[in-house]
Amino acid sequence: MRILLTGAAGQVGGALRPLLQGRYEVIVPSREQFDLSAPEAITGKLDEFEPDLIVNPAAYTSVDKAENEAALAFLVNGEAPSVMAAWAAGHGVPMVHFSTDYVFDGKSRDLWREDDPTAPLSVYGASKLAGEIAVRSAGGPHLIIRTAWVYAAQGANFMRTMIRIAKERDTLRVVADQFGAPTTAATIASAFTQILEQADSDLSGSFARAKGVLHLTNSGSASWFDFARAIIAGAQSRGVKLKATEVIPIATSDYPTRAARPANSQLHLQRLKEVYGIKTAVWQDALDDELDAYVVQGQRTLHEPL
Ligand SMILES: NC(=O)c1ccc[n+]([C@@H]2O[C@H](COP(=O)([O-])OP(=O)(O)OC[C@H]3O[C@@H](n4cnc5c(N)ncnc54)[C@H](OP(=O)(O)O)[C@@H]3O)[C@@H](O)[C@H]2O)c1
Repeated sequence: MRILLTGAAGQVGGALRPLLQGRYEVIVPSREQFDLSAPEAITGKLDEFEPDLIVNPAAYTSVDKAENEAALAFLVNGEAPSVMAAWAAGHGVPMVHFSTDYVFDGKSRDLWREDDPTAPLSVYGASKLAGEIAVRSAGGPHLIIRTAWVYAAQGANFMRTMIRIAKERDTLRVVADQFGAPTTAATIASAFTQILEQADSDLSGSFARAKGVLHLTNSGSASWFDFARAIIAGAQSRGVKLKATEVIPIATSDYPTRAARPANSQLHLQRLKEVYGIKTAVWQDALDDELDAYVVQGQRTLHEPL
């Protein structure tokens, strides 16, 4: 099977790449070779690559910046997946598209299920929802994987930001009234690889069993404050030298951002378990693994000393 993997330099794409490459033929075009902000070139590229499966974690992911760059966000997150999905449907090629908890408004206290009504609060969320709708309505075999609060030892993410700020400042103030499941890119990549292996050669049947949309995060729940405290404690216990050892809980209203975020981002994982038999690690265990990787990586690089 030949897989086209977009966004291979990103967190999820970067975690998927080595796992997929060990098992399949994988095409990993650079942003220049496959630019999602130029959707008019996509069909020609797909004719050239001739993939048997498209896996699309690439996205415009700057949530706050998107408020001022709506056209670009919709181009990359809505229009480009639409063109890919149309090509995929026309060629009977399955497509896997990554999406987000930010398609929900977060106003319910319940965990969000795949079929719950969407109502994004932000331009980013609306652009990702446009991508979901396009992929679904193209009519080909597809799986939309919604994830949340993604981080990794590499990349721009909350874990690395907390450690960096804690090296610079005496205290950290972190929002304590937004809840979700911190999720490692490694967890997503591992679960997705299992889904592919289980499907064997019947990806369409496998994706149909999940009704084309699946929630995939680490298990458990945390506020950003809980997550920050665990990061700081975990980093310290691994010998990372920090100035800030205290995390102070604040309210969302104390930390205004351009884009509104859902208060409750927790995704229900029942479908993942029932359809694919996958139970993901609790977020605290996944964080331990990622902090270990961060420390090993820090020991290897002069630019990010412990
Ligand atoms: N990060 C989160 O917390 C989070 C939460 C929920 C859902 N998600 C979803 O999960 C997926 C993966 O997220 P991630 O955290 O891995 O994102 P990421 O680290 O920001 O990576 C995004 C990737 O997309 C590429 N990209 C951006 N614009 C592009 C364009 N115009 N043409 C081609 N490639 C482009 C980037 O390329 P460069 O490397 O060249 O910049 C990067 O490789 C996305 O669909 C995202 O919406 C993420």
